[in-house]
Amino acid sequence: MEIDHSDVSTFRSQLLNWHEPGDRPMPWKKHPDIYWVWISEIMLQQTRVDQVIPFFERFVQRFPKVEDLAASSEGEVLKYWEGLGYYSRARNLHKASKVIAYELNGVFPENLNDWLSIPGVGPYTAAAITSFAFNHPNAVVDGNVYRVLSRYFGILSPIDSTKGKKEFATLAQKIISEVPPADWNQAIMDFGATVCKPNQPDCSHCPLNRDCHANLEGSIRELPVKLKKIQKTDWSINYLHVHDGNRFLLRRRSKDGIWGGLHEFPTLESPGKIGNWMQKNVPDSDFCIKKVTQIPHQLTHKNISATFYELKANHLKLNENSDFVLADEKNLTTFAVHSLMKKYFTIFMG
Ligand code: ADE
Repeated sequence: MEIDHSDVSTFRSQLLNWHEPGDRPMPWKKHPDIYWVWISEIMLQQTRVDQVIPFFERFVQRFPKVEDLAASSEGEVLKYWEGLGYYSRARNLHKASKVIAYELNGVFPENLNDWLSIPGVGPYTAAAITSFAFNHPNAVVDGNVYRVLSRYFGILSPIDSTKGKKEFATLAQKIISEVPPADWNQAIMDFGATVCKPNQPDCSHCPLNRDCHANLEGSIRELPVKLKKIQKTDWSINYLHVHDGNRFLLRRRSKDGIWGGLHEFPTLESPGKIGNWMQKNVPDSDFCIKKVTQIPHQLTHKNISATFYELKANHLKLNENSDFVLADEKNLTTFAVHSLMKKYFTIFMG
């Protein structure tokens, strides 16, 4: 779709007029140090600004420099990430800190292509980092930008199609060529997050409403167009909360896949096999089932139905080479756990 040059310049000036730098304070804007910019942009992938702020502050206090991050253990980094979700971000961040601290001698890359070779950094994050830290004219194209551009210019190409992605990236790049890059990227993301919101945007008070195609045509709710809607899958899990009144069993999930590297209770496919399971994994112990609790839990792609079996054992001894660890109930916060485990801890063990 060809977009008129005058529409592009009107859009630029309207959006920059709307934006007051500093209107939406964020701790990482206090001094645009490259390390802070990088950490914040990784945290901001798939996560809202208000959710990120407390995590960011704790994180940079504990790891003030890239060398501090590189010298820490993955377990500790995950602990500081606990509650933010999408944990592969934390593992990649840790990996990347070692590359920057040890292979690049602590010198951060500056250009877009060099950033793309850093673990955890894709085109969107590379554009955000290089524009915010170095004012390079690289346009950010995230969910906010897709939404704002598709609505304002009335673009119907699906944002999850190759053709659509290319079209939006070209337009975003054309727009940024004549504006201050860092201010522009911040302005369009802030506009998408606070005015041109996904649901029920307040179009009657929007300063861009006179020229916004979707507003004029009444198609705000249909834009942006996506080919695929998120398909949620159902997932049932049985968890065993095995304890002796003081200590309980935990297991670390494998690094790949959902909740990679985080801890949880042992899981069991079928509750009918609890007796066998205990005999095999906690030998020489008598136990009783104290409580059975059902907890529903939602993730972006999953509807989880979790059943927790609380098993009180008279004595906990693990096999040699057991996959499990014994955790102390008094130190619940020692291990990084995922959101569903945290929910259980809060309800029953907090
Ligand atoms: N999303 C990703 N990066 C962001 C930023 N710097 N400001 C606001 N939202 C963002």
